Parts: sequence; structure tokens; C-alpha cells
Amino acid sequence: MSHLKDGFFIAFEGPDGSGKSTQALILSRRLCEDGYDSIVTEEPGGTEIGALLRDIILNPERPISERTELFLFLADRAEHVEKVVKPALQKGSIVVTSRYLFSTLVYQGSARKLYPYKELYALNRFAVDDILPDIVFCLDVAPEEGLLKATNNSKDFEGGDRIEREGLKLQRKVRESYLALARKDRRRWVVIQPSSSIEEISTLVYDETRRRMPV
Ligand code: TYD
Repeated sequence: MSHLKDGFFIAFEGPDGSGKSTQALILSRRLCEDGYDSIVTEEPGGTEIGALLRDIILNPERPISERTELFLFLADRAEHVEKVVKPALQKGSIVVTSRYLFSTLVYQGSARKLYPYKELYALNRFAVDDILPDIVFCLDVAPEEGLLKATNNSKDFEGGDRIEREGLKLQRKVRESYLALARKDRRRWVVIQPSSSIEEISTLVYDETRRRMPV
């Protein structure tokens, strides 16, 4: 088993239904096959406390105010970093997460216009104790297609979670703002164009990861 000195941290981001969890699993499995120690994780809900928060945040039966939503995502993230991400990186593992702080910048920041970007970014940096991913893969998808997939395959709430149920207008803003974030930081971000096959995307993602990983 190979271990990297400082670990390696990869985040998948993208609108609902863009295939993040699937790609995170495939990538992590391939890295394990290569002999690396790799874990796959997610937000919201990557910890025991996070699973409770996930239900509070996403349950369509319980509307919550926008500010509360923001702080619940931050609480989930702080717990996730402290209990899962940081210990794994310290062990030299490769951590692959589906969603990270960019989701908050995009959904609560740009789409809901809840809080100025600069302050929201600072809050997030505090929540993650300044741990940022080495690579962010942004899986692009047409908002119509993504929303359809997300609501059909919703893991925990039939017919879609509370945020998916807000519909297409939100998903369009989300997509635009992901692409804008990626344009601002081309060193960290890799945008994957919508493509017909899961295999094609997973090959691109794997090749790009191996190219950027420390040897
Ligand atoms: P996700 O777990 O990716 O959805 P699923 O696996 O059910 O497809 O995310 C749940 C929802 O939470 C999704 O609509 C995006 C939203 N979200 C935010 O609004 N802000 C955040 O910071 C995060 C992490 C997610």
C-alpha cells in the first residue's frame, strides 16, 4: 500500500444529478487498485452527526430558513473535515469527496445570493480549517437532464430532496456559478463536459488525477 506524505484531496462538484457520487466511487476504487489508500466520502452527511444534519437540511417536509440552511451546511462540513478528511490526509490517504465548500459558495452564495462571496468564502475557510482540495472536478450537466436524474434517483426523499424540488431556475444558476468559479481558478479546477458515458468520464478523471498526483 502506497502512502503520500501529505495525503491528496480530490473534490467532485457539480449540479444535482451530474454523477458526482458515481465518479467519486469509481476513482477511489481505481486508486485503491493502484495500491493507494483511498477513501470516498460526501457532504452533506459524511459523518454520524452529518447524517442527522443531512436529514434536517434536506427533508422536504420541514422548510428551514435560508440562514439556518447555510449554518447547517457549515456545521456538517466542519464535522466532516475534523472527523474524516483531516485524519485521512494525515495518514497519507487519498480522500475523494462528493461536494465540498464550493457547493455552499454556489448554492447558498451565488444562487440564493444569501451572503457576499468574500465573507462566505472566509466562513467556509474557517469551517474547513483551511484544508482545500488539490483538484476539483466539476461535472457539467444540462440543468434539465441533471434535475430529472436527481429527482428520479433521490437517495433519501422520493420525488427529490428539499433543494432539488426548488426546480430548474435554481439549477441553472448553480451551473453558471460553478463554471464561473472554475474559470477563476484553472489550476485547481477541471471541468468535465457532459458526455454520454460514465466510462469516458471516469477515464478522463483518472488520467487527470494521475497526472496531478505527487509521485
Ligand atoms: P447531494 O448529497 O449531492 O444530493 P444527492 O446525493 O441527493 O443527489 O446534495 C444534496 C443537496 O444539498 C443538493 O441539492 C445540493 C445541496 N447543497 C447545498 O445547497 N449546499 C452545500 O453546501 C452542499 C454540500 C449541498
